[in-house]
This record gives sequence, C-alpha cells and structure tokens, in this order.
Amino acid sequence: MVSKRPFGTTSNGEDVYLYTLIAGQYRAAISTFGATLQAFHAPDANGSVNDVVLGYGSLEPYVRTTTYFGMTIGRFANRIAKGRFTIDGVDYQVETNDGGVNSLHGGRTGFSFRVWHAETFEVGGMPGLMLTLHSPDGDGGFPGAVTVATSYLLKDNGELVIDYEASTDKPTPFNMTNHSYFNLAGAAGGAVLDHEVCLACDRYLPVDAALIPTGECLPVVGTPFDFTTAKPIGRDIGTVGGKGYDHCFVLADERPILKEFARVEDPVSGRTLTVKTTKPAVQFYTGNFLDGSEDGKGGVRYGRHAGFCLETQFFPDGPNHRNFPDCILRPDQTYRHTTIYAFSTR
Ligand code: BGC
Repeated sequence: MVSKRPFGTTSNGEDVYLYTLIAGQYRAAISTFGATLQAFHAPDANGSVNDVVLGYGSLEPYVRTTTYFGMTIGRFANRIAKGRFTIDGVDYQVETNDGGVNSLHGGRTGFSFRVWHAETFEVGGMPGLMLTLHSPDGDGGFPGAVTVATSYLLKDNGELVIDYEASTDKPTPFNMTNHSYFNLAGAAGGAVLDHEVCLACDRYLPVDAALIPTGECLPVVGTPFDFTTAKPIGRDIGTVGGKGYDHCFVLADERPILKEFARVEDPVSGRTLTVKTTKPAVQFYTGNFLDGSEDGKGGVRYGRHAGFCLETQFFPDGPNHRNFPDCILRPDQTYRHTTIYAFSTR
C-alpha cells in the first residue's frame, strides 16, 4: 500500500510530496526532496513499532541541512579534495561546500537538494517508489548531462531495497549513496553506543584532519576499526581520533555482486539491521557532528552519536587516487548500484 501527502513547497515554487510505503508491519516514508528516507517504522522484539531513522518533520530543515538525514547523495558521495579532479587530461573544479575547502556529497546543489520526479510501482504485491532526476552538463561543476533513477522497494519481510541507475554523456565522477542515520532503539532513543556492530571489512582508509583519505588502505586487525567480530560501537570510539567513526571501510570482497557485509543489533529493543550492497566500500559514520541544536521529528533534539550511518559507496576522494576503485562513469557505461537494508529482530 502507498499513500501520498504534500510535504511543502520549495522557494522556487516546486511542490514536494511525502510517499509512505506500507508492507506488513513496516513503513517507509520517502520525500521527493532529495529522494529522502524521512521515516522508517519497524517492530522491536516485543512487537512494538517505532521510527528507527533520524529526520525532520517538515521540508524547511532539509533545504538547509548539513546532516543529510536519509537523503540520496550524488553526484559524488563524501569528499573530493579541494573539489578538484582531472579526467582524460581535463581539469575540473566543483563546489567546495565543506569548510570552503573540499567538496562534500556533491555540493550544495547536489542531488540531495533537488525535487525528484516520483512514480509508484509494485513488485510481487510489494510497494515501491521510483524517483528520477536530470542533472545537466556542468551541474555544480561536474561534467556531463546525467540521468538518474533511485528506487525504493519495501518488502513485508523488513527489507528496504534501494536501486540506483544512471547514465552520462561525458565522463564524470559518480558515486551515489543513501545517508540514513539509524537508531534501532527508536529515533528518540539517545546515543547508539551500545549497538553491536559486525562489519565484513578487513581494511579501512585513514584520513587527514579534514577527513580526506591519505591514500593508504590499512588492515583493521589490531586497531579500533576491527569490527570483523561484533562489538559495541562505543567500545573503542574514544580512540579513533576526532569525535568518533567517520571512515571508509573496505569490503573484504570488493566484487560488484550483492553481498551482506554488516549486521547491527540493539541489545535493548532486540532490533537488528543487516546490510547488503554491490559497492566496494562503506562510510561508517557515528553522527559525530550532531549537537542537539536542531529540532528533529516530534521536536526530538539529536545529540552526538544519536544515529549511525552505513553509506555504501566507492572510496571517498576516489577521482584523486589511482589505487582506489575506478569511480568515473563513462558514456558507454550504466551506473548500477543496489543496497538492501533488512530489518528484523533477534
Ligand atoms: C561524512 C561526515 C559528514 C556527514 C554529514 C558523512 O558522510 O563522512 O564527515 O559530517 O556525512 O554531512
């Protein structure tokens, strides 16, 4: 089942809608502004249904956000150093929206801040929403006109399947993700430091003070980045530098086939989340920059570590590192990416 309601109007007069997909006990609310997962309701081990993603209750905060709660990110997830890269000998400069120095999440005019065209669909009786967008040549400084489709399909077994497809008419860096912050205790549940995380990631990318990868790819073994056996997020968080985890973890098997790489469990509610992806890496971010200064849904103020993100993607700053997987989308290629967030209980 799908319902649709108005969710505000942008300053250029574009109407935004909130679609709610319902399958069994699960509900996913998706806004056409940023193709954003605005809410996700799932039962806990006792059958009590709560919203388990962070977000805002109206359009306005999404327009000016730097948290990117639940938003679809493009053209390039995470950072590009100094917003510069070179493709086939041509230099490009894109928006530097991260401290005025680096480019973050495709810039202030990136896909997260666009109103997407939406159409509902169904697969085997399960509800879905297909969102499409056209990004012109030179958009935010990026080369090539790009056509993008992002779809959400909700299944009554608790799986939220997100598919991305895109094509371009000139080579362009291309790296999409979803920026949901999860709190399996419920989105008003405080910090997620007790959540137990297991990641099938045997390497991670160290970063400099501006969170740009140094170019090294180091083994996690013997470091606080080792989540190959489940451990609480909070166990080693004080030793990773900065305010917590904000690092790219490399999947042990980088082949572009759909595989499960993450399992997270909240010991109190008994909710679990497993994640599958076709991408070679994931940005594990623990909401380090949340500071309780903004009103979230229902007036909740999200403090530091109020949610965790598992942003499946290519490596940050990929266009500037030859040793990182190729993240340039070319006209003879189609970008395809599937990530499945599967909710269940212990
Ligand atoms: C980045 C963080 C950033 C956050 C919100 C994450 O993907 O790694 O550094 O603060 O997004 O923009």
